[in-house]
Amino acid sequence: MEFKELDKTGVKIPVLGLGTWGIGGFDSKHFGGDDEAVRALRLGLELEMRFIDTAEMYARGHSEEVVAKAVESDRDKVFIATKVSGENLSYEDVLKSCAASLKRLKTSYIDLYQVHWPNPRIPISETMKAMEHLVAEGMVRYVGVSNFSVRQTREAQEALSKASLVSNQVEYNLLDRSVEEDLLPYAKKEKITIIAYSPIARGQIHEGGRDKRWQVLDKIATKCGKTRAQVALNWLILKEPVVAIPKAIRLEHVRENAGAVGWRLSEQDQNELNEAFR
Ligand SMILES: NC(=O)c1ccc[n+]([C@@H]2O[C@H](COP(=O)([O-])OP(=O)(O)OC[C@H]3O[C@@H](n4cnc5c(N)ncnc54)[C@H](OP(=O)(O)O)[C@@H]3O)[C@@H](O)[C@H]2O)c1
Repeated sequence: MEFKELDKTGVKIPVLGLGTWGIGGFDSKHFGGDDEAVRALRLGLELEMRFIDTAEMYARGHSEEVVAKAVESDRDKVFIATKVSGENLSYEDVLKSCAASLKRLKTSYIDLYQVHWPNPRIPISETMKAMEHLVAEGMVRYVGVSNFSVRQTREAQEALSKASLVSNQVEYNLLDRSVEEDLLPYAKKEKITIIAYSPIARGQIHEGGRDKRWQVLDKIATKCGKTRAQVALNWLILKEPVVAIPKAIRLEHVRENAGAVGWRLSEQDQNELNEAFR
């Protein structure tokens, strides 16, 4: 596995983590797939993707319960990121949500606690005050956000006085490169880690089409002896300061994604992909 420093914390996190949206259900709890999901997450941990991303909102908290099962005795060797939902951003609600996540995750601390999406009705200063309280109490190690624009990221940074904002989790993949416009350069300058969600465009990279850009991707994949998903993930993690969290519900996908590290697309291949997927 390869690692990148989380912001300026000195902590190194794997460039590839394990996404859990859909694990344990989507908008409601589903228990049927839990065993396979636990096996897939454990395989990911064995393959050194020791970074799991979940959220209180996923499967109404059941995703966090599945994560707890997968991690069990290995807790201290896994970097666990979860999220407080946008409707729970008042001071009291953040504390309540965190307590509930800790309980479901069966842990005494969350490595990275992220604001899932901004809520204009609640001042970010109030939310961040609660975050700093959680850090001071040892329940949270690092504070992050998700789906925040540059302006919102800056406001979140300014609202923190004792802790710092270490990450912003946003959609980023070959098909959606909007963050390259302003957020990515800003994050690079501020050394805020960008956690790329939907890194294979919710499966679209895998399925793809037949037009010119897909031909370029297929040509590069064949030349490198890799799959489309592996090339798309390698392209992402070669960007700074980016790590990616492909969904990890299936053993075969976890195995495939682990093959996205340990090699590098050439400069020329990266440029060709940049051009084709403009
Ligand atoms: N912060 C946010 O607002 C936010 C939003 C969306 C996602 N996320 C996080 O980002 C993670 C990943 O995003 P995502 O689940 O939307 O999309 P993704 O990882 O880009 O794609 C997952 C979809 O692609 C399919 N797939 C095909 N090949 C795959 C491969 N090699 N590896 C993984 N999946 C493959 C999956 O099928 P199967 O289902 O059959 O495996 C699934 O339908 C989520 O699990 C979640 O943790 C965060």
